Amino acid sequence: MNVELYNQPLSSIIADITIEFVTPQQWETHPHAPLLSMAKFEGKSEQICLLHEHKLIVCGLDNESSDEYRSAMTSVIKTLLDTNYTCAKLCIPKEIYFHAVIEGALLGGYKFQEYKSKPKTSSLQTLFFAYNSQYDFEHFQSILHQTLIVSKATNFVRDLVNQTPYDMTPQTMAITAEALAQTNNLECTILDVNSLESENMNAMLAVGRASVNPPRLIHLAYKPNNPKKVITLVGKGLTYDSGGLSLKAATSMVTMKMDKAGGCAVMGIIKAISELSLDIEVHAFVGAVENMIGGNAYKPDDVLVAKNGKTIEVRNTDAEGRLVLADVLGYAQEKVKADYIFDYATLTGACMVALGPYTTGVMGHNEELKRSWLQAAEASGEYCGNLPFNPHLKKLIKSDLADVCNVSSKPYGGAITAALFLDNFIDEDMKQKWIHFDIAGSAYTESAWDVHTYGGTGAGVRMTLEWLLKLQQQGNN
Ligand code: BES
Ligand code: ZN
Ligand code: ZN
Repeated sequence: MNVELYNQPLSSIIADITIEFVTPQQWETHPHAPLLSMAKFEGKSEQICLLHEHKLIVCGLDNESSDEYRSAMTSVIKTLLDTNYTCAKLCIPKEIYFHAVIEGALLGGYKFQEYKSKPKTSSLQTLFFAYNSQYDFEHFQSILHQTLIVSKATNFVRDLVNQTPYDMTPQTMAITAEALAQTNNLECTILDVNSLESENMNAMLAVGRASVNPPRLIHLAYKPNNPKKVITLVGKGLTYDSGGLSLKAATSMVTMKMDKAGGCAVMGIIKAISELSLDIEVHAFVGAVENMIGGNAYKPDDVLVAKNGKTIEVRNTDAEGRLVLADVLGYAQEKVKADYIFDYATLTGACMVALGPYTTGVMGHNEELKRSWLQAAEASGEYCGNLPFNPHLKKLIKSDLADVCNVSSKPYGGAITAALFLDNFIDEDMKQKWIHFDIAGSAYTESAWDVHTYGGTGAGVRMTLEWLLKLQQQGNN
C-alpha cells in the first residue's frame, strides 16, 4: 500500500472514500449522526460504520491517544481491504498521533499469504493524508518517511518469522542476510561449521549437531562515517526448536518455527537503521541453528565448553536458546567493542507466565537503562515489562558438576534465571551496558490483537528504533 502526504485541503483530494475518526463525544454532532445512529454506531473503540452512499467510513475512538488511533486505523484498513475501493483519504490527526495512524494502516493491513494457493488480492492501493498548512509540513513528511521505514522493517521481520522451518533453515537465513546486505549496503560475514569450530563455539555447535541443516552465525554491520555510538544486537535464530532429546510435547512444538524471531528482529532493525541513515554503528549477530533429535544429538548430562571458556552442565536440551546465545554473545563482544549490547530471544515460556502473551520481558543490571527501554517501548506501541534480578535467583542455576547449569533447580522465575544464565557470558565491562529482551510471548500470535494478525508480530523492531532515534537525538544535542 502506498501512503502519500498532500499539502491540500481534504476536499480537494480525489479519492474513492474518506476516513473519519470520532470519539463518543463527537459523533452525535456528526453531519450523518441520524444514519450512524440507525446503524447503532456509538463511536466506541474500533467500531466501524461504512456509509457507501456518502463515500465515508467512520471509526470510533474511546479517547484520543496513539494506541487508540493505531487500533482504529487497523480496523479501518481491515474493512477497506475487503471492499473494492482503490484509494482512501483522511486528515492527519494531531502530530503526536500521525505515526500511530500510519502504523495502523501498514501493520494492521499486513497479511501473510505465501502458502495460500489462491492469495486474496485487495483493491486498496493508496492512502492520501491531507495536511492543509505550510507550518510543519516538512516535519510531517519526515514522520511519514520514518514510520514507513520502521513499519516495512516490521513486516519484513514478520515475513521471515512466518516462513516454514523447511523454507527458512540456518542456511536460508544466512542467504537472506546476504541479500539484505547487498540491497542495504551492509557488511555481511557468515560463519559455517568449520569457522564455528575454529572460534570454539561448542555450545552453539552442540545444539545444531543433530540437524541436517547445519548452523550459521550471521554478522551484519552498518558502519556510517564518524558514528556517535556503536551498538551490538544479538538475536536467537532457532529456525526450529523441537526441544532436542528433551523433546517437546506435540502441542508445544507447533509454532516453534517462531523461535528464530529474535534473529529476524535484529535483521529487521539493522535494515531500518541503514534506511534511516542513522549516525550509529550497528552490528547484528544471529545464531541460526536448528534444535533436532538424532543419534549424534547433544544430551542432558553433557557438559559443554562455551566460547568464553565457561563450562555448562546440560540438564535439558530444550533450554537451547541460552546455549546458542552464550556463544554468540561471546563472539559479538570479542569482535566489537560496543557502547551497548542488546539481545532478543524467544527464550522462555516462563516469560509468558510472568507477563502474559503480549509483553516483552526486559532484564539487565542497569536500572536506568531498563527504564529508558520501558519508556521507548511505551512510546512505540510495544508492551514491555521489567523482570528484576536478585542474588537468590542466581543460585538456582548453580551446577555441582560444571560452572553453571542450563536450567534452574526451581520451577519459578524461569525467564529471570534464563537471563541470569546469559549474564555468565557478558564480559565484566559490558554488564551495565547489556539488556536482554525475552520476546517469547510478544513475537508470535495465533489470534489477532492490536496491529497484529496471525503469525509473527515483528516484536522488538518498533521499540528499538524508538530507543535508537532518541539516542541519536541525544547525540545531536
Ligand atoms: N523456544 C523455547 C521458549 C518458548 C516457549 C518460546 C514457548 C515461545 C513459546 C525455549 O527454547 C524453551 O523451550 N524453553 C524452555 C526452558 C525450560 C526447558 C527451562 C521452556 O520455556 O519451557
Ligand atoms: Zn527450547
Ligand atoms: Zn527455543
